[in-house]
Amino acid sequence: MYVCLCLGITDQDIRQSIADGASSVKQVREQLGAGSQCGKCAMHTRQLVRDELELL
Ligand code: FES
Repeated sequence: MYVCLCLGITDQDIRQSIADGASSVKQVREQLGAGSQCGKCAMHTRQLVRDELELL
Protein backbone atom coordinates (compact mmCIF):
# COMPACT_ATOMS: atom_id res chain seq x y z
CA MET A 1 0.00 0.00 0.00
CA TYR A 2 1.27 3.46 -0.85
CA VAL A 3 1.79 5.70 2.14
CA CYS A 4 3.44 8.62 0.36
CA LEU A 5 2.11 9.31 -3.11
CA CYS A 6 4.53 12.15 -3.77
CA LEU A 7 7.57 9.88 -3.50
CA GLY A 8 5.97 6.49 -4.10
CA ILE A 9 6.82 5.17 -0.64
CA THR A 10 4.97 2.06 0.51
CA ASP A 11 4.32 0.59 3.94
CA GLN A 12 6.81 -2.11 2.98
CA ASP A 13 9.47 0.55 2.36
CA ILE A 14 8.88 1.87 5.88
CA ARG A 15 9.10 -1.64 7.37
CA GLN A 16 12.32 -2.22 5.48
CA SER A 17 13.76 1.06 6.74
CA ILE A 18 13.12 -0.06 10.31
CA ALA A 19 14.56 -3.52 9.59
CA ASP A 20 17.64 -1.75 8.25
CA GLY A 21 18.11 0.09 11.53
CA ALA A 22 15.89 3.17 11.65
CA SER A 23 14.62 3.50 15.21
CA SER A 24 12.49 6.64 15.10
CA VAL A 25 10.03 8.52 12.95
CA LYS A 26 12.74 11.08 12.27
CA GLN A 27 15.20 8.46 11.03
CA VAL A 28 12.63 6.88 8.72
CA ARG A 29 11.76 10.30 7.31
CA GLU A 30 15.42 11.09 6.79
CA GLN A 31 16.05 7.78 5.03
CA LEU A 32 12.98 7.77 2.80
CA GLY A 33 11.98 11.42 2.54
CA ALA A 34 8.37 10.69 3.50
CA GLY A 35 6.52 13.91 4.28
CA SER A 36 9.13 16.09 2.62
CA GLN A 37 6.90 17.20 -0.25
CA CYS A 38 3.22 17.95 0.41
CA GLY A 39 3.30 16.56 3.95
CA LYS A 40 -0.06 14.76 3.69
CA CYS A 41 1.52 11.41 4.55
CA ALA A 42 3.20 12.63 7.74
CA MET A 43 0.58 11.40 10.20
CA HIS A 44 0.18 8.02 8.51
CA THR A 45 3.95 7.57 8.35
CA ARG A 46 4.31 8.43 12.03
CA GLN A 47 1.61 5.92 13.01
CA LEU A 48 3.10 3.16 10.86
CA VAL A 49 6.57 3.67 12.29
CA ARG A 50 5.28 3.64 15.86
CA ASP A 51 3.23 0.50 15.22
CA GLU A 52 6.26 -1.24 13.70
CA LEU A 53 8.61 -0.20 16.49
CA GLU A 54 6.16 -1.55 19.07
CA LEU A 55 6.36 -4.96 17.41
CA LEU A 56 10.13 -5.17 17.91
FE1 FES B 1 4.16 12.16 1.18
FE2 FES B 1 3.18 14.13 -0.26
S1 FES B 1 2.26 12.21 0.15
S2 FES B 1 5.00 14.11 0.88
